[in-house]
Amino acid sequence: MSLPTLMDLVRRSTDYLTKHGLPNARRETEWIFAETLGLSRMDLYTRFDMPIEETDVIRLRELVQRRGRREPLAYVLGTQDFMSLQLKVGPGVLVPRPETEELVELILKTFADREDLRVLDVGTGSGAIALALKQARPTWTVSASDVSSEALQIARANGERLGLTVEWHEGHLAAHLPGPFDIVVANLPYIGELERNLCDPELAFEPALALFAGNDGLDLIRPLLADFKRLLVPATGQAFLEHGWQQGPAISLLAQEHGWCCAIVADGGGKDRIAHITALAK
Ligand SMILES: C[S@@+](CC[C@H](N)C(=O)[O-])C[C@H]1O[C@@H](n2cnc3c(N)ncnc32)[C@H](O)[C@@H]1O
Repeated sequence: MSLPTLMDLVRRSTDYLTKHGLPNARRETEWIFAETLGLSRMDLYTRFDMPIEETDVIRLRELVQRRGRREPLAYVLGTQDFMSLQLKVGPGVLVPRPETEELVELILKTFADREDLRVLDVGTGSGAIALALKQARPTWTVSASDVSSEALQIARANGERLGLTVEWHEGHLAAHLPGPFDIVVANLPYIGELERNLCDPELAFEPALALFAGNDGLDLIRPLLADFKRLLVPATGQAFLEHGWQQGPAISLLAQEHGWCCAIVADGGGKDRIAHITALAK
């Protein structure tokens, strides 16, 4: 029996993913095929009549079916690009999002010419923020914490593979860390329990611990903010919190109650996304 060609399988897989409701079925199929067969996206077009061996057909079918069940593409591929890093990810960690790259960019812009800063990333997950900052600013001392030992294992492995030194700590928020830090950054869980049912099917595959934080989504941001007096270098320390697009006013109010100045920064899509917290001007 003749082997199916690359083009046959790309077409069939695209149809399969389209039937399962994926809007970018062709693009996602190409990513799965390119990654699995070790080809470039261009190869998929120039080598369209290449016969595919039975073992590869089985492997590809399994991956395409996983994506059809709406498992995040990053889990299916095992990797996610973040800034200029390729991170390993799996079901123990949140897949780093493009909005979070904007959080990293804002920090790099705010502290453009500063060396030797001490940074803490709270709720580090795959290590995305901590590692991207360390890569961009090798002279900074970067610490990162997470309550999940599974996440920290993945973050630590990402750091080792990329040759980036970060101090990893396991524990609740920053309670176990002495500080003070020049920068505290956190992309903590911020989805409210009431929104659980409105989420994309892909979210069901990501750890609930990485997504949900009480009724209003602020159950972790609230105590972290209350700890900033201890955690931040007096007068000059700054914090950056990623949050849901409707949480800006509530976080600003909380920050003011604790004596901080808070600017809400919108993401590239125009949605409020980051609370930038600084000391009040004297
Ligand atoms: C939204 S994910 C963000 C992961 C990563 N910072 C990123 O941007 O991709 C939130 C992370 O916070 C961690 N987390 C949840 N509760 C925590 C707590 N009480 N203390 C520290 N980390 C916590 C989760 O394990 C998860 O890794």
